[in-house]
Amino acid sequence: MSVLSGKNVLLGVTGGIAAYKTTYLVRLLVKAGAAVKVVMTPASRDFVTPLTLSTLSKNPVLSSFTNEEDENDTWNNHVDLGLWADYMIIAPATANTMSKMVAGNIDNFLLAVYCSAKCPVYYAPAMDLDMFKHPSTAHNFAQLASYGNKMIPAGTGELASGLSGEGRMAEPEDILSFIEKDIQSQLPLMGKTCLITAGPTYEAIDPVRFIGNHSSGKMGAALALEMANLGAQVILIMGPSHVVTDHALIDRIDVQTAQEMYDTVHTHIHKVNYAIFSAAVADYKPVHTADQKIKKKSETLTIELTKNPDILASVGAMEQRPFLVGFALETENELEYAFAKADKKNTDLLILNSMRDKGAGFGKDTNKITIIDRERSITEFETKPKSEVAKDIVNEIIKRTL
Ligand code: CTP
Repeated sequence: MSVLSGKNVLLGVTGGIAAYKTTYLVRLLVKAGAAVKVVMTPASRDFVTPLTLSTLSKNPVLSSFTNEEDENDTWNNHVDLGLWADYMIIAPATANTMSKMVAGNIDNFLLAVYCSAKCPVYYAPAMDLDMFKHPSTAHNFAQLASYGNKMIPAGTGELASGLSGEGRMAEPEDILSFIEKDIQSQLPLMGKTCLITAGPTYEAIDPVRFIGNHSSGKMGAALALEMANLGAQVILIMGPSHVVTDHALIDRIDVQTAQEMYDTVHTHIHKVNYAIFSAAVADYKPVHTADQKIKKKSETLTIELTKNPDILASVGAMEQRPFLVGFALETENELEYAFAKADKKNTDLLILNSMRDKGAGFGKDTNKITIIDRERSITEFETKPKSEVAKDIVNEIIKRTL
């Protein structure tokens, strides 16, 4: 999954021949999962039509403060648009537009949006080679860098003038990959690794029956996504679950039993910086698993159970261990039990869920948590969607480790 997935991207198109390439750029951005809006300078409309770009971006294209053909039209709000954007890309960025960006010379809608945007701004210069080498261009590059704007380097090759040299706008694929890499390089968990257990475990009684629980795996999947979104490489060890996980940085390993989960954890635990144990592991498993389906012969049936290994405690006991986060699901004496669990399993953070809280528990899309750290300090959170709860947990991890 691209780092641009779910992000709002504003594309500013200015009047150069390379504007035709923005049709491909819009397609790539949409394919990456971004919401795309396009603003155009009046001059750029001679090179590529607003209709093409609005069709591809699935949004109206704006190029003036009002729509002149419609007398009832309202004012297009450049401030709202600038604030809507998570990222702004100006491509192609002509020498003329660059000079106006430097000077704050707002003589069109695109420049008004640029000056209102608080988000990171990328620009892809495009011009003929002599213009590219002109001292004013070098000056503008330096000025824009001082504003924090990032230049996507121009390429060298045949130019629209027929001359050959530096000044070709970067290809759409290169623009996208430049931006993705730049965003990734700034993610706080870039270069870190994290192991997460999630979901239930199934302990077979016979070929058709098992001991399990109602855990859905949603909380663990949300944590994996949040860690990956912040740049961490995630190993997600998932018990039987229908939850779908799709992210380039999530490597998912599906397991069935507690023993399989234990073995998989210990294969990977030595190479991770963080480990989060959100799985609802079955505490016990049948001593014997019947080879054939157990027939209903007697009035009662007793199945002898034996303890499963405690995966979290086994990692807590390791001399060299990652930053360790455990969960505790309790129904009574919540804090007392949670403190005891944190001590016993040697966790850095313990995430407490109480079954008494309405918004918490198995299968739900929300959760209500209390976080307990090593110093026994307690932070309580409101009931929230699991994606938001994952953000809170990851935030607390980052606060204590980076
Ligand atoms: N856990 C684990 N392996 C087990 C049991 C639990 O890794 N065999 C982990 C869970 O993933 C969770 C934490 O330990 O992070 C606490 O799980 P919980 O079920 O609340 O506690 P238990 O240790 O099973 O204790 P009890 O059921 O007696 O409350």
